[in-house]
Amino acid sequence: MTTGSTVFVFNGPNLNLLGTRKPEVYGRTTLADVEARCREAAAGHGLELDFRQTNQEGTLVDWIQEAGAAVTRGEALGAVLNAAAYTHTSVALHDAIEGAELPVIEVHVSNVHAREPFRHHSYVSPVAAGIVVGFGVDGYVLAIDGLVRKVRPLRSV
Ligand code: DQA
Repeated sequence: MTTGSTVFVFNGPNLNLLGTRKPEVYGRTTLADVEARCREAAAGHGLELDFRQTNQEGTLVDWIQEAGAAVTRGEALGAVLNAAAYTHTSVALHDAIEGAELPVIEVHVSNVHAREPFRHHSYVSPVAAGIVVGFGVDGYVLAIDGLVRKVRPLRSV
């Protein structure tokens, strides 16, 4: 594996239902389709994709720690994170990202700021390297491109 060759994409709760859950808000693209688009985007940058989804908060914490360690070893660039509802509730995710010193691009399919007030606050944003909100599933590709632009010049890849 070449240095910094992996980009992680982590998805939180209910995103396994993308394509059928509230399509008027989240669209009709499935998570499998999102993964395929991300794989193409990563490949365009010469990167491997590690794409995951979980409904468990602690699993996201474990993955963030794992990704941070991979970045430290020079094996990964960073992570795109759609923490879904945990965005608005999880101090544990905030602490994990901060502690792992993991470059994270926060993504939301919908424009959370145009929705209910409880979606306006994010525990992820203060420790994110960048935020992509409201571009539908295109946001994942924009986030991968943004992560590469932001992080790659800092690393010898
Ligand atoms: C979401 C927005 C969150 O508020 C919500 O809980 C989700 C999806 C988005 O991608 O728009 O599950 O993160």
